[in-house]
Amino acid sequence: MATAEAQQSTAAVGVVEVTKRFGEFTAVDNISLDIRDGEFFSLLGPSGCGKTTTLRMIAGFEQPSQGEIYIHGQPVAGIPPYRRPVNTVFQNYALFPHMTVYQNVAFGLEMKKTPKQEIERRVGEVLALVQLPHLRDRRPKQLSGGQQQRVALARALVNKPEVLLLDEPLGALDLKLRKAMQLELKQIQSEVGITFIYVTHDQEEALTMSDRIAVMDAGLVQQVGAPRQIYEHPQNRFVADFIGETNFVTGKVGEMSGEFTTVDLGNLPVLGTADGRALALGQVVTLAIRPEKINLYPQGEVDIMKAGIDMDEIDQLFGGHIPDKKIDMRQWLATEQNNVVVDGRVQEAIYIGTDTRYRVMLDNNASIFVRVQNFGSRYDQTFDVGNTVYVHWAAENAQILTA
Ligand SMILES: Nc1ncnc2c1ncn2[C@@H]1O[C@H](COP(=O)(O)OP(=O)(O)OP(=O)(O)O)[C@@H](O)[C@H]1O
Ligand SMILES: [Mg+2]
Repeated sequence: MATAEAQQSTAAVGVVEVTKRFGEFTAVDNISLDIRDGEFFSLLGPSGCGKTTTLRMIAGFEQPSQGEIYIHGQPVAGIPPYRRPVNTVFQNYALFPHMTVYQNVAFGLEMKKTPKQEIERRVGEVLALVQLPHLRDRRPKQLSGGQQQRVALARALVNKPEVLLLDEPLGALDLKLRKAMQLELKQIQSEVGITFIYVTHDQEEALTMSDRIAVMDAGLVQQVGAPRQIYEHPQNRFVADFIGETNFVTGKVGEMSGEFTTVDLGNLPVLGTADGRALALGQVVTLAIRPEKINLYPQGEVDIMKAGIDMDEIDQLFGGHIPDKKIDMRQWLATEQNNVVVDGRVQEAIYIGTDTRYRVMLDNNASIFVRVQNFGSRYDQTFDVGNTVYVHWAAENAQILTA
């Protein structure tokens, strides 16, 4: 507790062991977060997991049942929303319909009796930032959804908050506009350097925009990390499943020497990584492997040149010239360490433009999905239903997850 509090002084927002109950129901369950200064931080999770409630506690619209919230090291319990150095952009941005764009953005400053000249300057600056100066005299109903969203953002930014809270601010926009606004928002955030806390249930949106993401489920923080960390090293099954597509196969922990661990998938021992998590021999675990981290290779002998393998390398590895320029892929793949190569049979092959998506049955009768890029992969070959293949992955790409 003492160390957690000491860390708060450097964080833009510190959430320390915060719980929120509504009657008997626990909406937020003892969560702790350290949100850094200038960071684009996202709260990501399914509907009802407690994202909005967490944001509302930071804003001051809700009080924690337990725990403490700090903004720049200062505890904010008892401080009303309008006195906190934060501003919120809501999903239904609620612009004043009878006011122009300019008046909507200037409203907060006028309430604070800011000098007229300063209002002019600041509203001008922030409208330029969101690329709306030419629409300053329009009313909200004369604007597109994306433009209204930008007005809402300008209205929050004009107050120069230390922290901007955004609750699904792009939720009302269609997909194409949302994608454009994601990049724009991220650009604006890096220009103004304000800490953004961004709520979304859209995993792709969170991956695109965030410096770090807190993945939430059922009131709990499941994992906090950079997008790549969350995607490639999910800590548990919920995170692996919620973000992207993943194969899950069940097995038992076998040999545990070195960096990688053997998992027995029912008479099919393969390698994976637990990323330092403690395991016990014989423990039942789930192996999580992303479809795009798995490769397929043809069985039997293949032409070395066609496979894109360097001839000199082959000569070196196998000591001497290989006369017919043919090699068994398994032999070749075995030359790299910590590789997994198992037999498979293609059950389904679906062409989806950039990729082909295969369903492959392994020797233990488990089915897994594999995504192979249609161009640029090392062995540029497609497979048909019924083909036998080598299924290959690097041990570091198979995450061993415990219950
Ligand atoms: N004022 C309230 N009284 C009772 N229960 C509430 C209240 N506010 C929120 N809840 C409950 O707390 C849980 C978390 O709600 P919250 O709005 O934080 O979810 P969320 O993650 O923002 O979901 P969504 O993605 O649907 O917006 C939900 O089960 C919700 O019904
Ligand atoms: Mg919500």
